[in-house]
Amino acid sequence: MRAAVRTGLLGLTISFKEDVPYPAQRDPNVAIGPNDVLIKVKSAAINPVDYKLPRVVAGPVAGLDVSGVVERVGSGVTDLRAGDAVFGRATSGSLADYALVGTEEVAIKPEWLPYDQAAALPVAYLTGLQSLRAGNVVAGSSVLVIGASGGCGIAGVQLARAMGASRIVGICSGRNFDFVRGTSGIVGFDGLELIDYTDGDALTRFREENVGGFDCIYDTATGSGKGEDYVSSMFPLLKEKTGQYVQINGPPSTWARHAMGKMKPQRTMILTSGKAKSALDEIVSLLKISNARPHLDVKSFDENGVREGFEQLRGRRTKGKIVFNMD
Ligand SMILES: NC(=O)c1ccc[n+]([C@@H]2O[C@H](COP(=O)([O-])OP(=O)(O)OC[C@H]3O[C@@H](n4cnc5c(N)ncnc54)[C@H](OP(=O)(O)O)[C@@H]3O)[C@@H](O)[C@H]2O)c1
Repeated sequence: MRAAVRTGLLGLTISFKEDVPYPAQRDPNVAIGPNDVLIKVKSAAINPVDYKLPRVVAGPVAGLDVSGVVERVGSGVTDLRAGDAVFGRATSGSLADYALVGTEEVAIKPEWLPYDQAAALPVAYLTGLQSLRAGNVVAGSSVLVIGASGGCGIAGVQLARAMGASRIVGICSGRNFDFVRGTSGIVGFDGLELIDYTDGDALTRFREENVGGFDCIYDTATGSGKGEDYVSSMFPLLKEKTGQYVQINGPPSTWARHAMGKMKPQRTMILTSGKAKSALDEIVSLLKISNARPHLDVKSFDENGVREGFEQLRGRRTKGKIVFNMD
């Protein structure tokens, strides 16, 4: 089958191949795990974690985000059957013609949501939902989203809006202002403000004028690239005592503090966890209510498309989500 596989000594290079063995479970004579679901992949999306983890940790086939049609289910799967349209997080790698998913990691795809949009949701929107929940975002909250034009950032903006935030400030480069403003579910929302991080004066002015102004800061940029560290400069923008700073990346020292439960008050890190199924249903409901949809940059599933997609992702110049359509 076709697949994007981890190659090289550590398996950190992603290469498109056409002769990768099918998952053995595609053969009806081979047993499928009781809680496994085999799907024929329709679309798959990529995230920075797909090129960051070596083959020994993440397996040979790259990719988590997937949508497709169920072909086989294990004996313990009671809520799905062959022919169902689903989306979720693949366990065997999503950038392939076939993928295995655990039954708790996959949800039914509603008819109104195309396969490619569904594939764009799992990692970025689960991370957004868990982070905004950790940030206690409710109707009327003020939310600052740092890195607002990326995969997790757009998800954060859209979900914060869907959860009823009344003021959302996004930090991204000025060239992406129109893109973020034009994101579905956000058009016409006059609670959105955008700050250009490449304009030092604008950033300083924003910081000075907004001390104590936010219920939640959702930081998707710190720790992602050289010199990207917003924590100390933006922390004073939290509401005293109640505001929450939620970051999804950072230096190893911060991850270590997080693992030891030693983060300082009002600051937390999120490593997306837990069973995805019910959270995916919740995300779909939020998007339906707010009429928001993920923004896609669709690539062909071939050598050029895979190379281009990962180059763009590594360069940190993604707008929304990079998605591959298998058909
Ligand atoms: N903890 C978790 O569970 C979890 C889950 C998912 C992702 N992550 C991590 O979260 C980070 C973001 O993931 P992603 O999928 O959103 O990545 P992404 O889509 O590749 O993010 C690209 C975005 O980063 C923005 N950016 C680059 N430099 C910036 C800066 N100095 N300040 C603000 N924004 C900047 C870019 O905006 P401009 O083009 O406008 O500059 C671009 O839109 C990655 O490090 C990823 O590994 C963690």
